[in-house]
Amino acid sequence: MLPKRRRARAGTPGADSSAARFPGVAVYLAEPHMGRSRRAFLTRLALSKGFRVLDAYSSEVTHVVMEQTSAEEAARWQESRAAPPEPGCARPTLLDISWFTESMAAGHPVPVECRHRLQVTVPRKALPSPVWMPPYACQRPTPLTHHNTSLSEALETLAEAAGFDGSEGRVLAFSRAASMLKALPGPVTVLSQLQGLPHFGEHSCRVVQELLDCGVCAEVERVRLSARYRSMKLFTGIFGVGVRTADQWYREGLRTLDDVREQVQRLTQQQKAGLRYHADLSIPVQRPDAEALQQVVEAAVERALPGATVTLVGGFRRGKLQGHDVDFLITHPQEGQEAGLLSRVVHSLKEQGLVLYYQHRPRHSQEPACPARRNRTTDTLERCFCILRLPSSQGAVVGGTLGPRRPWKAVRVDLVVAPISQFPFALLGWTGSKVGPVPWGRPVCGVGPADAVASPPTPQHFERELRRFSRKERGLWLNSDGLYDPEQEMVVHLATEEDIFRHLGLTYLPPQLRNA
Ligand code: UTP
Ligand code: MN
Repeated sequence: MLPKRRRARAGTPGADSSAARFPGVAVYLAEPHMGRSRRAFLTRLALSKGFRVLDAYSSEVTHVVMEQTSAEEAARWQESRAAPPEPGCARPTLLDISWFTESMAAGHPVPVECRHRLQVTVPRKALPSPVWMPPYACQRPTPLTHHNTSLSEALETLAEAAGFDGSEGRVLAFSRAASMLKALPGPVTVLSQLQGLPHFGEHSCRVVQELLDCGVCAEVERVRLSARYRSMKLFTGIFGVGVRTADQWYREGLRTLDDVREQVQRLTQQQKAGLRYHADLSIPVQRPDAEALQQVVEAAVERALPGATVTLVGGFRRGKLQGHDVDFLITHPQEGQEAGLLSRVVHSLKEQGLVLYYQHRPRHSQEPACPARRNRTTDTLERCFCILRLPSSQGAVVGGTLGPRRPWKAVRVDLVVAPISQFPFALLGWTGSKVGPVPWGRPVCGVGPADAVASPPTPQHFERELRRFSRKERGLWLNSDGLYDPEQEMVVHLATEEDIFRHLGLTYLPPQLRNA
């Protein structure tokens, strides 16, 4: 998966993202041995072919191209430029000019191969060989930053592509292998270190081997550049569009946002809102934005029901510095007091002119023994999917040369309400990492198709593993709204997240160690 920060952003110098034909690729031509005029010539050439070329080296760059530069020199150049990569983000690939010239000749970015790469093998701290890991992600700590980013990202790309094709088995295989790599205490340097690790199948091993040998995996590069993957990623990145819809659009020949805009009559209200604010929503939300929104939501909640509390959940609770949305969990210490609260909160936000879009889903009362409950990834909690207007700090103007310039930006916000008896389960479930993707939006009892409200599918999977562990190892059905014992036919009451881990016989993992 491409790191979010590398998604096209409007307004970057030299980066006309609407004109770029290859949104996953942002080229930087590094000067050391290139010379100004040659660099200017190559830049014009690439722009004319629809490539995005950045004037300045930044976190958005995906491909650094150099000429007559040794691998050692290239590595030193990168060290001197690059701030340490943000958690979950790999450094851009350092490439010889041969990749550039071949891409120009082909008229599109060619898959990066071994021979294109400027790469030095840095001696790294050895990992015990073979390593041992417990099989479920909920049985081992997974920090936000880890030692095997390029390996896990490659496998997650394959997991994501498998999700786009509705192949749940392959999604699970690749995401389990990726998740295992994230938990390792050091970098993998030889394949034998992975021997005996659960969930490391032949295909994942092959990918890791190729990456260890030459730094790239041809299959992964092919996938990343394929029309199908790029369009599916683009479409599922639209608020309200899930894999099923994206797949249908792709089959009908739609490829770009403009293609989708032409079909406006078929879009749901949610998808229309997703498209309207797409430029803002595709820029990651930063932690200060999340904190500013928390204050706004807290004030509205306090007005609506004094004593009610607001907890920041989702990726931000796990310590992420940015996310695709902001998730808040609301409760009140007295059971039942929360009834009707969410409507009043939304009303209060609307009065302040902060609501750009919202869809309220009432609490869904459901028999705990409903068979579909076993595999449900959505829950019965009352929630509201919103797009809120976040005023920029110090009146800064957002939106680049392409988008509208205005002193606010649109941000995706999920508000979830749990009665206090369900709060620990909701807190655990909504902290993630997420359950997903559900490739084909399996319908769940009483809740609409999963496509109805979708977020970008990513293969993070702490929650999925926790639920699988409860079911398979303990015979208990865990969800964001509770824990059910099917044998006793009763709901298990627990007061804190720690109690839930203890009840399942698991060592407690704080949110920062649930980044599986
Ligand atoms: P998100 O999709 O927001 O994930 O769901 P995230 O980890 O915060 O990722 P970014 O940073 O926004 O990209 C937040 C959590 O809410 C749970 C998901 O499983 C995830 O753990 N969730 C979501 C539910 O429990 N039920 C739902 O119906 C939807
Ligand atoms: Mn989130």
